[in-house]
Amino acid sequence: MSNLNVEQIRKDFPILQRKIGGKQLVYLDNAATSQKPRSVIDALTGYYEGYNANIHRGIHTLAEEATDAYESVRDTVREFIDAEHSHEIIFTRNSTEAINLVAYSWGNANILPGDEIVLTAMEHHSNLIPWQRLATERNAKLVFIPITECGQLDMEEARKLISSKTKIVAVTLMSNVLGTINPVKELAKLAHEKGAVILVDGAQGVPHVKTSVRDLDVDFLVFSMHKMLGPTGVGILYGKTELLEAMPPFQSGGHMITSVWRDKATWTELPWKFEAGTSNIADVIASGKAIEYLTALGMDNVREHEIEITKYALKKLNELGDITIFGPKDATLRGGVISFNVDAIHAHDIGQICADAAIAVRAGHHCCQPLMRDLNVMGTARASFYIYNTKDEVDLLFEALKEADKVLGHVACR
Ligand SMILES: Cc1ncc(COP(=O)(O)O)c(C=O)c1O
Repeated sequence: MSNLNVEQIRKDFPILQRKIGGKQLVYLDNAATSQKPRSVIDALTGYYEGYNANIHRGIHTLAEEATDAYESVRDTVREFIDAEHSHEIIFTRNSTEAINLVAYSWGNANILPGDEIVLTAMEHHSNLIPWQRLATERNAKLVFIPITECGQLDMEEARKLISSKTKIVAVTLMSNVLGTINPVKELAKLAHEKGAVILVDGAQGVPHVKTSVRDLDVDFLVFSMHKMLGPTGVGILYGKTELLEAMPPFQSGGHMITSVWRDKATWTELPWKFEAGTSNIADVIASGKAIEYLTALGMDNVREHEIEITKYALKKLNELGDITIFGPKDATLRGGVISFNVDAIHAHDIGQICADAAIAVRAGHHCCQPLMRDLNVMGTARASFYIYNTKDEVDLLFEALKEADKVLGHVACR
């Protein structure tokens, strides 16, 4: 048994009381976005009702309160990922924007024709397309670390593919399809030995696995607050000071300058150089509450709970004879994301049957079309767990799949 008091946690999430078609909601779509606790929701209304003002620019009380609340979250994030300086934390819209920032700003300044950008075969489109565009524009080459049959990165190949031609390794901490947790510390070492930098896509990993940028020694880390109890509209980019300082701004306009003339301008210091325009103030402030919530639970306990529930779900789902589950079999090697197909039933039909039972799962390519091709499937169904999910909910999923198999599986086979 993990140390999380799930029954108590569930009371903090108003939406979990919701019924759909008279049935209790079972929310198993956490890899897409997580639900939000009362403290996060209250922080949003608290800002708008109590101290709504634009930040950094005003000297009146509301502006000071809003600025203090917004800037204090930078330090909350710094502590959460164990970064050295709070100016290394940049607020973006989401992980996608953070990756685009690095691909545009760092990429255009550093990638030359013939250089190699190393990715993996399990990247989300967000950590693929920005690099595709950069490679095309700079005449560079994309190189992909393949996946073994067990759904893990082929590290033997990685050692060969990361070479003196490599300029950046961009890799997900945890696959949103396979659940695989990747050895980013080892990849960072390999990249650094060759003089390359590493960007880690933590969109799935950071909400579930205690992450220290200093221990992993990664150069860039990105993640999205909406997948870890926070509101939508806030992404985090962590970057090492010397890299961020050398990078030109991504977007330009108000707030990221020191002096402006008609024909030129100078940029302000970190982190504001990368935060042009009015920031997403309310959502950043509420994001701080999300991190406080996770910190109070303890990320080790979060991870332990997920291993427990994933282990149970893997065992239970495997009782359905004609199911294919993708990714590592060992729950300790993966996060709480389980992609699967039930023979002869289209993933969307599984999604629909689950929806009819008030169970939210996802079906499709999960923004990983190249990986779907490698797996030789059009798509998969995906159940993903978080701190408030229970074994009883896994049982309900199992019953819905059994029903789908009974109704649709046999029809499809006939
Ligand atoms: C692994 C991974 N990377 C990146 C993203 C993109 O996150 P966002 O849509 O918040 O930018 C996702 C979203 O599902 C993801 O799973």
